[in-house]
Amino acid sequence: MKKIKLLLLFLFVSITAFAADEKAAAPVTPAQAGLGLNQSEILIIILLVFAVVLLLVSVTLLNAFKVMYQEQLNPTPYTKPVKEPVLDYDSWLKQQPVKPSIWTKLLSLRPIEEEKDLVIDHAHDGIKELNNPVPAWFNFLFYGTMIFATAYLFYYHIGGYGDLQDQEYENEMARAKIEKTAYLEKSANTIDERSVKFDNTPTVLEEGRTVFTTNCVVCHGDKGQGIIGPNLTDEYWLHGGSINNVFKTIKYGVPEKGMISWEKNLNPKQISAVANFILSLKGSNPAGAKAPQGEKYEAKDLKDNEMKTPTDSVNQANVTKK
Ligand code: HEC
Repeated sequence: MKKIKLLLLFLFVSITAFAADEKAAAPVTPAQAGLGLNQSEILIIILLVFAVVLLLVSVTLLNAFKVMYQEQLNPTPYTKPVKEPVLDYDSWLKQQPVKPSIWTKLLSLRPIEEEKDLVIDHAHDGIKELNNPVPAWFNFLFYGTMIFATAYLFYYHIGGYGDLQDQEYENEMARAKIEKTAYLEKSANTIDERSVKFDNTPTVLEEGRTVFTTNCVVCHGDKGQGIIGPNLTDEYWLHGGSINNVFKTIKYGVPEKGMISWEKNLNPKQISAVANFILSLKGSNPAGAKAPQGEKYEAKDLKDNEMKTPTDSVNQANVTKK
C-alpha cells in the first residue's frame, strides 16, 4: 500500500514538473497552458485527485484490517482436504443418475425390475397380464386428434375462415377455367400450317370474318367471290383446299402472283380464324363469282375438310377448340 502511495505521489509530482517545464520552454500566455489553467489551479486539482486516491486507499486498508481482526478473534479452523476415492469406470457408471432415453419415454417403458408391481392378479393358464401404462406416443396422437378436431371445427364451421368442400370445388373450377382460356390463347398463337385444325365455332368464324373484311376484300371480294384474287367459295383451289393448305397460303402468300404473305400482319390465331372463315364460305355461290381456278379439291380426310353441322347444340357454345 505504501509503495502504491509513493508511486502515485511520484507520478503527480513528475506530471507537475513536466507541465512546468513545458511552460518554461514555450512562450505561451498563462491562459493557454494546460487546458487554460494556471499553475496554482493545476496544483489544486492534483491535490484534490491525490486526496481522493488517498481516501480510496485508506478505505481498502480499513477493510483489510477488519478482516485480519476478525480472523484474530475467531480463526477459521483448518480442515484437511478430503481425498476422493479413485473409481473404476463401472462403479463410476453406477453412480451416474439413470436417465431414460426419449425412446423409453415415448413408449412409456418400465424397467424390468418393476415388473412385479405391474402384474395384474389374474391369470389364464398361468399367463399373467401386466398393467403397462399407455404409451406416450399414443396419448399424444389421441389428444392431438381432439385438439385438431376442435381447431378444424372452429376454423371451417364456426368461424367460417376456411372454404368448405363445395366452395373449394367452385374455386378450383373457376381457376381451371382461367387457366384453360390462357392455355387456349397461348396454343392458338403457336398454331402453324401443320397443327392448324378445322374449327367452325361461331366465335372463330366471327373473328375470321373481321380479319377478312379488313384485309382481304379488296382482292377477294366482300363475299370471297374473287376480284384480283381467285374465288374462295368454290371447290377449286390453286394451292390446295385443306385447312392446312389454306393456312399455309395465307401465311406465306404467293408473292409472285400478287397474294402477299400475311405472317407479319396477322398472328397465327387470326390466320387460323380467317382460314376457317374462308372454308366456311364453300358452296355459298355469291353473285358475280369468278370462274373456278386450279384443281378441284377432294377432301381426303372428311373430318378436316367437311363443314361440320353443330349437332350438339348444348355443348356448342362451350366448345372453343375441337
Ligand atoms: C393484293 C391482293 C390480295 C389480297 C389483299 C389478298 N389476296 Fe389472297 N390472293 C391474291 C391472289 C392474286 C391470289 C392468287 C395467287 C395465285 O394465283 O397463286 C390469292 C390467293 C389466295 C388464296 C389461295 C386460293 C387458292 O385457290 O388456292 C387464299 C386462301 C387467299 N388468297 C386468302 C387471302 C386472305 C385470307 C387474305 C386476307 C388476309 C387475302 N388472301 C388477301 C390476292 C390477294
